[in-house]
Amino acid sequence: TTGTAPTFAVTQNPAPASAAERAHRMDSQPFGTVFTDHLAKATWTAEQGWHDHRIEPFGDLVLHPGATVLHYGQQVFEGLKAYRWADGSIHLFRPEANAARLATSAHRMALAPLPEADFMASVEALLTVDEQWVPSADETSLYLRPMLIGTEPCLGVRPSRTVEYVLLASPVGAYFPNGVKPVSIWVAQGYHRAGNGGTGQAKTAGNYAASLLPQQQATDHGCDQVLFLDAARDTYVEELGGMNVFAVRRDGTIWTPRVTGTILEGVTRSSVIELLRAEGREVVERDISITELRDGIADGAIQEAFACGTAAVVTPIARLVSPDHDVVVGDGGPGTVTMALRQRLTDIQYGRADDVMGWMRRV
Ligand code: COI
Repeated sequence: TTGTAPTFAVTQNPAPASAAERAHRMDSQPFGTVFTDHLAKATWTAEQGWHDHRIEPFGDLVLHPGATVLHYGQQVFEGLKAYRWADGSIHLFRPEANAARLATSAHRMALAPLPEADFMASVEALLTVDEQWVPSADETSLYLRPMLIGTEPCLGVRPSRTVEYVLLASPVGAYFPNGVKPVSIWVAQGYHRAGNGGTGQAKTAGNYAASLLPQQQATDHGCDQVLFLDAARDTYVEELGGMNVFAVRRDGTIWTPRVTGTILEGVTRSSVIELLRAEGREVVERDISITELRDGIADGAIQEAFACGTAAVVTPIARLVSPDHDVVVGDGGPGTVTMALRQRLTDIQYGRADDVMGWMRRV
């Protein structure tokens, strides 16, 4: 149910950044470090429910130092993108899926869920005032980051009775500094991302905080991303630090870890599965052991591997590294299935191909 969409009232509207200022701020900055002129916000209290939907000038948040988000990490977030098409129009990719996942994540973290109608209205309102920030260069988009945070001052461990919804936006290009060049992945040693019954399926800050140290290990070993194995057996491939993982086999089938409750069910992941299946490819969601992956890469049974996510789109994987192995995928270059898939997905997202799946929403 979508309910009635609230209006996000514009509270103050200072002069937006000039075109020159925008261009200057966006010029080859690292992913997610440039922000637009406004925020969309709404407030929830137990008494009033969701209210005070508004657009504010971009600025710092004022939080009580006792806010539950600061002490116990009561937070959930999303990532989605707005794309500028060649005709200048702006389109979102499957925003309802992000609205639904935000609600599911909120449930897990005992936060009041934001109704889908409010989510959609916030995105539309922010894109209306920050329209000029949707970039148009190749491979660029406006990355939207909605979040819910517990704001009640309470050092007792219990759910906040006040929640703030904040939507920020950041013009972005490729997630990895080297663009879409193949990346290398490091198998996490001694660390896991999530356990059974934990928060692995929720998009919540703590999962990413927990990935930072193992990600640092990956970097120390010259790799771009960390790969996590399951916590119970330390055997099965789960996901990378911030994206899902796929393997393309010589027999034409494509494998990806099944969702078990400990991995994040990516919107790009499910879209990629649907696109591949629509092309007649067999996609198998299964347990994949690290041995199967490593040996498959080494003996050529696995010819390509890729990471996918809203931020990463579809990024080829060239190497799998751990203390006892270092294997190169295929010839170390981007695979043909991977790059065709990336093209197929981005053609839909940028309006270069018909939206046969019905995924795009014009703003
Ligand atoms: C996304 O892909 O949108 C994420 O939230 C992952 C993060 C690494 C940016």
